[in-house]
Order: sequence, then C-alpha cells, then structure tokens
Amino acid sequence: MKNSSLKKFIEAVPKSEIHLHIEGTFEPNLMFEIAKRNNIKIKYSSVDEVKEAYRFNNLQEFLDIYYAGANVLITEQDFYDLTWAYLTKASSQNVRHVEIFFDPQTHTERGVSFSTVVNGIYKALEKGEKQLGITFRLIMSYLRHLSEEAAFETLEQSLEYKNWIDGVGLDSSEVGNPPEKFEQVFKASSEKGYKLCAHAGEEGPSEYIWSALKNLKVDRIDHGNRCLDDKELVKYLAKTQIPLTLCPLSNLELKVIQDLKKYPLKNMMSENLLVTINSDDPAYFGGYMNENFFAISEALDLAEIEVATLIKNGFKATWLSEDKKEWWCNQVDEVLKKQPVNT
Ligand code: ADE
Ligand code: ZN
Repeated sequence: MKNSSLKKFIEAVPKSEIHLHIEGTFEPNLMFEIAKRNNIKIKYSSVDEVKEAYRFNNLQEFLDIYYAGANVLITEQDFYDLTWAYLTKASSQNVRHVEIFFDPQTHTERGVSFSTVVNGIYKALEKGEKQLGITFRLIMSYLRHLSEEAAFETLEQSLEYKNWIDGVGLDSSEVGNPPEKFEQVFKASSEKGYKLCAHAGEEGPSEYIWSALKNLKVDRIDHGNRCLDDKELVKYLAKTQIPLTLCPLSNLELKVIQDLKKYPLKNMMSENLLVTINSDDPAYFGGYMNENFFAISEALDLAEIEVATLIKNGFKATWLSEDKKEWWCNQVDEVLKKQPVNT
C-alpha cells in the first residue's frame, strides 16, 4: 500500500480476528502435503492450478471448492496442522486474540468423528496460547444447507467438549436457508450455555439479519452488509451495539460487492455501527487480517484514527471480559500515540 506509515501502524498494532473459518485457512501447499500423506488424489496438479480455480462468481461457487478442499482432512494431526499453520500466520501479523469457526458437519458427514476434528483444533489452539500468546474462543458452526435435525445431532455430539467450545454459529449457503429454520437448535444451544452468532445479510436480504436477531437471538452478526437496506435495522444495530463482523476481501472475491471503493464502511461507521474487519477464508480470498486492512484502508483512504477505531471495535466485539476488552483498546491507543502524526 502507498501510505507507508499507515501500513506500519496496521502491522504493529495488536488485533483480534473474530470471523475466521479454520477450513478457509487451508493453503494449497498444506493441502497437497496432507493429501499426499493420506493417499488422497486431488483434482489439481499444482498450487498454481489451485489458485487459478479460485475465481468465484458467488458464495455457492466458493463453497463447492471449499468443501472439496476440506475432504482431504482426515486425522487429528491434519486438523492440528491446519490450525497451527493459521495461528503462526496470525501471530506474524500481530493478531493476539482469535475467535474461530469450525464446521463439524463438513467432516462428520464424510465419516470423520467430531472428536478427531475438535481434538486437533483445540490442541493447536492451546499450544498457540502458550507459545504464541494468542488467546482464543472456539465456535462450532451449523451448516444451514442441512436440516435443523442434523444441527441437533451436532449439538448432541458437542456436549462432551462443552468446556472447549464457547459458542455456535450458522454458515454455508445463505439464500433459501433463513435463520428461522434453526430457531429451535439455537434455543437449545443457548440453554446448554453456548454463545450465539450467525452469518446473515452476506448474500441474503436484511430480513435475514432481523431473523437472526429476533428468532435466533444472536449477539453478533457475521457479515451483515445488507443491513443498510433497512433504516430501522441500522437504528437497532446502532442502539444495541450488536457487532457486525465484516470481511472486505471475501465480499470482493464472492462478488457481494463489485469494488472496494464502494464498500459502505464509512457510512456504517458514521451510523455508529460496531463494525469489525476480518478475513473469513483467507486462503481462498487472497489475504489475512493485515491484507484486509491494507486493502480497505487504501480503497477508502482511511485515516489512522479510523483504522484504530476498527481495531478497537474488533476487541469490543469479542467474547472477552469487559476488563480484557478495555485493556486491549488501551494497547491500541498506545501504539496509535507512538505513530507520527499524519498531515
Ligand atoms: N463458510 C465459509 N465461509 C463462508 C462464508 N463467507 N459465508 C457462508 N458460509 C461460509
Ligand atoms: Zn464466514
């Protein structure tokens, strides 16, 4: 990016990441390595060929490739390696707290046990906290293209690992699978002590955001771009400060928006929405946290103070304690104070 002092600030400042699918961090190199050791043939012959295939016109085209990629993950070691690779990358970008999604059904549907998946991921997260100092929360996402009954089975399987899992989410093909389809399983999940969030208003309409809020009773909306279509909803989100976890490069790659210069981030900020920046599926969308910040800052000509607000929002929107949130926001301000003033 052109503004080198802003670039340095983005790199130096501690960040959180709260909208990240661990299966979406599967880099082609690691995919080839794991496929080889599991004796699985993949349909691409080189990393370049894989990257060539990553051109999407919509969410579904991406999901088809993303689920195919996840097919090579079989053993606990595979899930561990996947998670560890993400954490080392996050650490190199000064990401200090993560709240990551995993999709149990993507794996249990093809015969990999829930325990294999969660053990691999959790062990890497624990090591990441000890060795890299990255704190974490773990969120299991229900796949919305499957039935509510299937989600209930996943909830049941998760209970043995309740101490490791902090919340539930809802992802996959949005249009045609509105939040209310999962009302009962979200209610049951909440009763078991899980926190709640859901993808809504990525490709789906603003009504899906209302439904996630009112029927699922989530306390965080993943994406939520389409809220701007509804003035009452914007007012409600501003008043409640329910966070939106935005993912600029994802939205660009999935053609949710056509041009980052038209990304309505400044409108959202001026409406006092608690918006955060995240990478979603960085191995597929061309960038981790810093690249998302570089791209959106450049496209919208953001000032350091605006970037700092977004980063503090990222901590405020976490499931950390209020004390911890405040501590991290102060850390962000400390780094900001050390920056040369932009004229
Ligand atoms: N699963 C992984 N990434 C997703 C996205 N951006 N939207 C819905 N489901 C997903
Ligand atoms: Zn997502």
